[in-house]
Amino acid sequence: MNQKLARIILDTDHVIGTIDPLLFGGFAEHLGRCVYEGVYEPGHPLADAEGLRSDVKAAMEELAFTTIRYPGGNFVSGYDWLDGVGPKNQRPSRRELAWFSIESNQFGTNEFLQLCRKLKTEPMMGLNFGTGTIEGSAALVEYCNAPAGTKYADLRKSHGFTEPWDVKYWCLGNEMDGAWQIAHLDAQDYAKKAREAAKLMKWQDPSIKTILCGSSGPGMPTYPDWDRTILETCWDQTDYLSLHRYADNRANDTDSYLAGAVEFENHIDVLSATLRFVKAKLRSKKDVYLSWDEWNVWYKNMEMNGKWGSAPHLLEEVYNLEDALVVAQWMSVFLRKCDVLKMACLAQIVNVIAPILTNKNGLVKQTVFYPFAMYRKYAAGESIRPVVIAPMITSKQHGDVPALDVSATRDPSTGKQATFIVHRNQKESIETEIEWRGMTPACIVEVHQLSGLDPKSSNTFEAPRTIVPKTLDGMTVKDGRGHLKLPALSLTVLVSV
Ligand code: AHR
Repeated sequence: MNQKLARIILDTDHVIGTIDPLLFGGFAEHLGRCVYEGVYEPGHPLADAEGLRSDVKAAMEELAFTTIRYPGGNFVSGYDWLDGVGPKNQRPSRRELAWFSIESNQFGTNEFLQLCRKLKTEPMMGLNFGTGTIEGSAALVEYCNAPAGTKYADLRKSHGFTEPWDVKYWCLGNEMDGAWQIAHLDAQDYAKKAREAAKLMKWQDPSIKTILCGSSGPGMPTYPDWDRTILETCWDQTDYLSLHRYADNRANDTDSYLAGAVEFENHIDVLSATLRFVKAKLRSKKDVYLSWDEWNVWYKNMEMNGKWGSAPHLLEEVYNLEDALVVAQWMSVFLRKCDVLKMACLAQIVNVIAPILTNKNGLVKQTVFYPFAMYRKYAAGESIRPVVIAPMITSKQHGDVPALDVSATRDPSTGKQATFIVHRNQKESIETEIEWRGMTPACIVEVHQLSGLDPKSSNTFEAPRTIVPKTLDGMTVKDGRGHLKLPALSLTVLVSV
């Protein structure tokens, strides 16, 4: 085959699984300016009664996060949720030990749940498994979900919220395998605490779903034994196992960086095999799924010490085109693994390693904003297994990978199909043929493309539209085939009805 040609075959009968909408989640932590000056800025001319700026709200509505994980992150392991509820003038300021910042507690559980209602998103509540207790975890479930009439539910009522919030998703701690975590535990100790806490929490509300705190990354010396050990102890009390990962291009090797999606895929495969192993070992009939509840690119801004300031500028990563193409591939991996991966949270949502960066005068949609918005908008229904025949790109870190990374979806309820293609080649465009089998679309009505010549270009307050998607002409489909030329360094999304 001509090395400048690629082929993609999409057979709509080859269904990988149903896409859980919770794959399009975000994460908000009390860290830097994510909460304060991010989703909560009372007094700003654009802020509503709850402190949410209209420009931030509009950008978040474009991303349409299906779930938001909160309040941390490392922060949660020292957090007393009681500090953040009740009259604001009685809430204590604290020295916060995860990020060495001052936490005013002016935004807490109820403000977060109000924000979720406003954004029509499902809350995912994190619990303190560091300094926190099993009793405290069960009490928070009562505070959020029990009808009035008992201690913590009445406390909620006294704070102005008579009706339960019905929080469904609960994270049993955060990165408890890491020495950096406040009151870090070993696998056995964590597992026993998680099992007993989850038991009490589910006794409080049997409808809740729990997310067990898996390894904080594949680089951990305890990975994946940590995951196996905790699953063996907590299987019956667990609905999801979490995984975390941040990609980087510290080596400044763009070919390797863009090939790194093979590792994201491998990460899921290892944990999926671990789930299958434990299920078999325990002779269990139930399933546990995966929740990638922290994922993103993070390596340029490693400022993690707030020096006892309030809302300090921490982790304010500026994203570029190559980062956006990594984010796009990550989301394609989610779609290709949607049979086992059911939830994912982009870390984070505003200012801190985030698609949205604010200052007093406005905001910037970073490059990574756009792939997230495009996948969120167009990927729905079922994921289709793509066959990709493309020239290979040699990378130092991950060997040979095809020039194209592809995922595809079809929504049986509407017939709408979407194909997501990342072209990893840095210099040359490629002629590509797409062949549909099964439900062949009559034509491609929309083509959206994010691309650029320089992998390092970013959007800034001075030049906010350097990397934005273009809408191209639709594409003809003849005899089940369509043709298009994909530029170097691009994400192309094809949509058909
Ligand atoms: O998202 C930033 C931090 O990264 C989180 O607090 C922690 O869980 C992870 O290490």
